[in-house]
Amino acid sequence: MLRIDVITLFPEVIEAGVSYSIVGRAREWSLAQIRAIPLRDYAEGKHRKTDDEPYGGGAGLVMKPEPIFKAVESCLCSAPATSSRPPRIILLEPQGRLYTQAMAQELSEQEHLILICGHYEGVDARVREYLATDVISIGDYVLTGGELPALILIDSVVRLLPGAIHSPESLGQDSYADGLLGYPQYTRPAEFRGMRVPSVLLSGNHGAIARWRRKEQLRLTRTLRPDLFAKACLTQADIQLLSELESPEEA
Ligand SMILES: C[S@@+](CC[C@H](N)C(=O)[O-])C[C@H]1O[C@@H](n2cnc3c(N)ncnc32)[C@H](O)[C@@H]1O
Repeated sequence: MLRIDVITLFPEVIEAGVSYSIVGRAREWSLAQIRAIPLRDYAEGKHRKTDDEPYGGGAGLVMKPEPIFKAVESCLCSAPATSSRPPRIILLEPQGRLYTQAMAQELSEQEHLILICGHYEGVDARVREYLATDVISIGDYVLTGGELPALILIDSVVRLLPGAIHSPESLGQDSYADGLLGYPQYTRPAEFRGMRVPSVLLSGNHGAIARWRRKEQLRLTRTLRPDLFAKACLTQADIQLLSELESPEEA
């Protein structure tokens, strides 16, 4: 079972985010144990202060290192002694490594993830330098806190756990699973307000459907994400499909 501890100032946000749908079910089915750890419980003093003014001056507040180190240490102490892999201590920061599907896959194969959610102006840099094993950003933009990034990471990881979704074969069809975007999906009705589903999908010809879907993956990725397309590992069959895309009837 994958264990995920989320160190946060807002445990209720994490709890709400992991209580429904696939992630909620994965918890019920004991595929994942997800705990929101209230950072304030590890802060000292009457006011349980978790932040302070930045050294050197400047606007805003910075999260103090002591409560974060203590909270992580407590998560490490309560980990089962049977763990064979070292826990991953993940600081969520806009300056981190950009999160990808490949990283989600890799994290889904771990035993214990500890996620640290920042707030305010961010977290004292010693957490990044001396405590975190990974620093992850979910995109090139700045959010108020690390709770939504943590929930995004949890959702993307938990759905990859064996048994988490009913049809695991659909995971292989997802965008990014093989370096390409996914193909377009349609459902009933076959015609809606004059908009028709591509006829090949109604043909029952599984070979033709598979070829059409792969061709769409190639076309969409080349058009929408040329950066991904440039890195994709293409087969001979893909190259043939691409040459068909160049022919006038495909335009
Ligand atoms: C307002 S942000 C701090 C931004 C910081 N001053 C900077 O310029 O990089 C507060 C917290 O939100 C979280 N956060 C914001 N944007 C994020 C992103 N793109 N990826 C991951 N975490 C993010 C982090 O935990 C961060 O410590």
